[in-house]
Amino acid sequence: MDEVYSELVQSQVELEQKNAELEEARQFIDSVVAAMTDVLIVCDRSGRIEQVNRALERLTGQSGKSLAGQPLEVLLAPGQEPLFDELRSKLHGGVGLGDCEVSFIDSTGTPTLLSMSCSSRCDHKGRFVGLVLIGRPVGELRRAYTELAAAHQDLRQAQKQLVFSEKMAALGRLVAGVAHELNNPISFVFGNMHALKRYGGRLTKYLQAIDRGESPDQLLKLRNSLKIDRILLDVGPLVEGTLEGAERVSEIVQDLRRFSSSQTEPLENFNVSRVVRTAISWVVKTTRIKPEVVLDLPDRLEVVSRRGPVHQIMVNLVQNAIDVMAEQPEPKLVVSGAREGQWVVVRVRDFGPGMSAVVMKRLFEPFFTTKPIGKGTGLGLYVSYGLAEELGGQLDGANHEDGGAVFTLRLPAQEVPDAEPSR
Ligand SMILES: Nc1ncnc2c1ncn2[C@@H]1O[C@H](COP(=O)(O)OP(=O)(O)OP(=O)(O)O)[C@@H](O)[C@H]1O
Ligand SMILES: [Mg+2]
Repeated sequence: MDEVYSELVQSQVELEQKNAELEEARQFIDSVVAAMTDVLIVCDRSGRIEQVNRALERLTGQSGKSLAGQPLEVLLAPGQEPLFDELRSKLHGGVGLGDCEVSFIDSTGTPTLLSMSCSSRCDHKGRFVGLVLIGRPVGELRRAYTELAAAHQDLRQAQKQLVFSEKMAALGRLVAGVAHELNNPISFVFGNMHALKRYGGRLTKYLQAIDRGESPDQLLKLRNSLKIDRILLDVGPLVEGTLEGAERVSEIVQDLRRFSSSQTEPLENFNVSRVVRTAISWVVKTTRIKPEVVLDLPDRLEVVSRRGPVHQIMVNLVQNAIDVMAEQPEPKLVVSGAREGQWVVVRVRDFGPGMSAVVMKRLFEPFFTTKPIGKGTGLGLYVSYGLAEELGGQLDGANHEDGGAVFTLRLPAQEVPDAEPSR
């Protein structure tokens, strides 16, 4: 009897011990579930809620007790009702479910998007007994992402505007140079047209004499006095010259349009030598200082790029080079260009004071300028650097070993050297 009693006591002690362990395990699991910031929903095989965690209670404003036994659908936003059946059939089909997005009704009655992962729950015999859903609200994340994307877009727009403003400012400075460039061919065209007008008058006079049926002697006299034969020889070259002048005007206008356009042109093959020459002449004709310009440029130097930005970069480099030589007794600008492997390299060298270590470090920073207020914006090199990168090229600045600064622009060379040459 004593033995039976002591066994009973022993079992009782063991049972209490197991019970305490069980209670401890339950508390441990409860504390983990309660600490989860993701929402947790456990459903039975018919989609009825068995258990939820605190994160879900906070999100929906409903207690776990009131939700227990209710169908999962009570938590979902309208239109999401077939969710449980869909999830169940997918999980039954052996398809594991990673993230899917599900809309829940939150405590304020508004739909909130959750990124859900879902797994099936099985009993100890491996039979399907329900689903476990774990989700995280993505609304905040998405809103933050949308705001970030909008800010990024605004920034890009502002930067585009900056490039354009810088270009417009440069254009303002260049107007005198461009006017000068235009003046030459236009006066040429004018002169030729006046000559052609005079020639037209004389030819008309001569034709009228023929129509009147004047004698061959008189006609010959008239032909000599009106210099008809010289006119006939002159007309061809005059027309040719006029056309050339008109073409030059049209080229300058095209350059101007390209330079001032806010549109991005497509990449194209072109001769960068011509763009470099035009940029130098526009700047040099505008500045008070007239440097000696030494050009070491082949007639043709083919690149794959965009004329407008290349022109803008060259204008900035040449303008800077001339600015730093304001006090030089003999300012000199050396511009060279050559193909170096896959690059076409254009170097702009001046004979100014060169750059200190501090200037060199901050050269491409926006708004960095050592010029007096009102003279420089400090955007020239910043914008040029960005443009060079956008063109798949590079821009560097350094001091030349023999004094002065040298800026090097690298642009992608045309791949097939003997391809159809561009204009
Ligand atoms: N060739 C050069 N030699 C020496 N210093 C230079 C040279 N080019 C640029 N710098 C220095 O870099 C600074 C920035 O040049 P950047 O072209 O960006 O602006 P900026 O010429 O001052 O103004 P802007 O916006 O009108 O071009 C200049 O103020 C100057 O101090
Ligand atoms: Mg500048």
